Parts: sequence; structure tokens; C-alpha cells
Amino acid sequence: MGVLLPGLGAVATTFIAGVEAIRRGEARPIGSLSQMGTIRLGKRPENRFPRIHEFVPLAGLDDLVFGGWDVFPDDMFEATRKAAVLDAGSLASIEDFLRSIKPMKAAFDSNYVRKLSGPHVKRAAGKADLARMLIDDIERFKDEHGLERLVMVWCGSTEVYLERSAVHATPEAFEKGLAENDPAITPSMLYAYAAIKCGVPYANGAPNLTADIPALIMLARENAVPLCGKDFKTGQTLMKTILAPGLKARQIGLAGWFSTNILGNRDGEVLDDPDSFRTKEESKLGVLDTILQPDLYPELYGDIYHKVRINYYPPRGDNKEGWDNLDIFGWLDYPMQIKVDFLCRDSILAAPIVLDLVLFMDLAKRAGLRGIQEWLSFYFKSPMVPENHHVEHDLFIQLTKLKNTLRLLMGEELVTHIERLPPGLTGE
Ligand SMILES: NC(=O)c1ccc[n+]([C@@H]2O[C@H](COP(=O)([O-])OP(=O)(O)OC[C@H]3O[C@@H](n4cnc5c(N)ncnc54)[C@H](O)[C@@H]3O)[C@@H](O)[C@H]2O)c1
Repeated sequence: MGVLLPGLGAVATTFIAGVEAIRRGEARPIGSLSQMGTIRLGKRPENRFPRIHEFVPLAGLDDLVFGGWDVFPDDMFEATRKAAVLDAGSLASIEDFLRSIKPMKAAFDSNYVRKLSGPHVKRAAGKADLARMLIDDIERFKDEHGLERLVMVWCGSTEVYLERSAVHATPEAFEKGLAENDPAITPSMLYAYAAIKCGVPYANGAPNLTADIPALIMLARENAVPLCGKDFKTGQTLMKTILAPGLKARQIGLAGWFSTNILGNRDGEVLDDPDSFRTKEESKLGVLDTILQPDLYPELYGDIYHKVRINYYPPRGDNKEGWDNLDIFGWLDYPMQIKVDFLCRDSILAAPIVLDLVLFMDLAKRAGLRGIQEWLSFYFKSPMVPENHHVEHDLFIQLTKLKNTLRLLMGEELVTHIERLPPGLTGE
């Protein structure tokens, strides 16, 4: 099975190098639900807890073949070294493997990622031409490696903020826009379009609009392609979606949540551009409102001051530091505070998400699922949902939904956690 990644930077290289080290038995897939997680089946006394990868027919790690595109021509060894996430010791034994993977030329335009420019880009007459070149790349990659199936995960930089417009409304309008070089069609949309046209499942790891537009959602449904996104849920937002449901469960009030980050990788540099940051900010801010439901709990969550800041600070490289200050209040309105200082490694948290998405999106395609895969919201900061649907951000509800979808696909009973009515309700 082929794994195609537009954007071979820190996340993508940490993922590829990691999978290779794991399949050689040199490392463990920590953080990957598909590899480490179990799933409870049937009633509790049955004691059935298989590993997820033993329960659902996922592709094996040995089956994966990697490829992708980048605006820099570095092979995967150079790119992994430059990303500086993994130390030299972890790379020594897999150098030859990494050197054998070379990026294809990118469909790129620095108007959409202003802090980036590189030499390894396609020259084309226009956007329709670029899309066709990407389709050719996908087909060639499939033939050259003798692949049966493919999955694409966008691991490219965050593009500038963009709202849906007329050209995004239908597949016809989108294709007309391609022919006319409409500025509202971004490079990431070209990759998503090419994937969908080739019947390849597409996941978006960045907050860009990309496939979250009616034109591509409709096209995906027509072509029986699964889609999901946006923005891998790692770092600070992961912490938010762990803490906020707990506060709400205990009806603890929240007055303010201030989040700031320092990070020094290329992603941090790209996000230093206000327009790229705006895309990220939208994605990070949405989370609290939907978890805390201020409309239902105005006394507790009706007046929250929520602020998110990202600061580019080169000395830290990929090892981000995220500070959170929460001003909360309890019984009789007495104020309290929580401070979180998360010394995290962004790409170490993101790599297992890429792996799970690859395997679950391939499963979805084989199971005949098409269009938006809401059950994979677990992995995203701003999950794609069908028009007018409520977005679920609570990590624990998302996990229940993911596991119940796997049970459903395999014809197992759904788990509601009420298997036996309490004595008194049963007539016992
Ligand atoms: N690391 C995390 O935890 C995390 C979490 C959520 C989202 N993300 C998002 O994932 C993406 C990747 O993150 P990263 O840390 O690997 O960033 P990175 O800057 O190291 O890598 C991105 C790569 O994409 C390439 N690129 C940009 N536009 C391209 C195009 N049009 N075609 C092909 N290649 C292109 C760049 O040259 C770069 O090598 C970013 O958008 C980031 O915001 C990362």
C-alpha cells in the first residue's frame, strides 16, 4: 500500500523514519491507537479485549511504501536530519532506507505560504495543468511500486487563511476555477483534488481549508473516496481537549484560558506570518466553545477570555514549550488557577496520528465508506463534519465514536457502558 505525503518536513520524516525503525524491531509505536490500543468486545464478563490491529483488518506496517512531494529536493535522510527531531543514533541503521526516498516536485506557490520558498517546484501553464501533473505523479508512483492501494495525508505547511467562496461550491465551479486559475484554489486543494480524482483517501493534517469545501466533499462522495481533517490534534490543543471535558463534567467554572507557545521549527517560522497564524488560530480557538457549551452553561462558561499565541523562537527547534494558564472558579465562586507547562515534541506526537490515519482511511475505503469520516475526529483540532452538524471536540466522546465505528464495521455489538440495569430498575 502506498502512503503519499505532500510536505516531507518534520512530521512526515518522523513518521516515515519511525515506521521503518518499528518494522525493524528497533523502536515501539507509542502513541498509536491502531498499534497499541485494545478494544472491548461483547459484555464485560466475556473479557474480550483484542488489540485493535488484530480485530480490524488493517494493512500491516511491512506493507507500507512511502512517497511524497516537497519544495526542497532533499532525500528523506537529509530531510530527517534537517528536521532535527530524531537524533543521529536513531537514524544510523536506517540511513540507506531513508536515502532511497526522494520527493517529487511540489505544486507550490509562495503566495499561499509566504515564509517559504524552495527550488523543487513544478512549472506549469496553470492550476489545471498542475492538478493533471499531480494525477500523473500518483499514477506513476502506483505503477512503479506495483501498489494495490494508496492513501494521501497532507503534511505540508499551513497556508494563509481563506474562506469558502463560489468557486468552492460545486465540482463544476471548482473545475472551471482550475481552468481560470482562480486565486481561491490553493496548492493544497490541488493535491486533494488529484487524490480524489484517483480514488485515493485524503486526510488533511494542517488547518488549511483544503478539502473542507462542498466541491471536494461532493466529488469525494461521487468517487467513493473517504476524506478527513483538519489539523492534527497534538500538543496544547490535545491538553485542552483532555482538561476541558473534565472541568465541565464536574461543573467547574472557567473565566479565562491563556495559551502561549514557543517553537523554533519551520512550522513555527511559517506560523510567524500573520495570515498563516490566522488559519491556525481559528483551528485552536474553536475547541473550547464546543466542549464547554456556553449556551447551555452560561453561568459557568458564558464569559471566557480565550487567547492563543504562537511565538517563533529558533533555539527550541521542534521541542515546543506550551504554557497554559486557566482561571477557574468553584463552590461559592471562589477563584482558583491551573498552570500547565507542556515541554512537548510536536512531531513525536503527530507521527503516530499519521500512521493511524493512513491505516484507518485505507480501512474506510475498503469498507465502502465515502465522504467525511467523522469517526476520525479523534485525531483533529477542527474535525470536518457534514454541513450543519455539531462538531464534537471532546476527546473521550471522539474515542467512543471511533471504537464504536470499528465495532459496527466488524458486526460487533456497540458498547454503551450499560449492560445490566441496576437492581431496583430490573424488578429484581
Ligand atoms: N507537528 C505537529 O504536531 C502538528 C500538529 C498539527 C498540525 N501540524 C501541521 O502539519 C504540517 C506539517 O508540520 P511540520 O512540523 O512537519 O512542518 P514542516 O515545516 O517541517 O514541514 C512542512 C513541509 O511542507 C513543505 N511544503 C509546503 N508547501 C508544500 C506544497 N505545496 N507541496 C509540497 N510540499 C510543501 C515544506 O517545504 C516543508 O518541508 C503543518 O501545516 C503543521 O501546522 C503539525
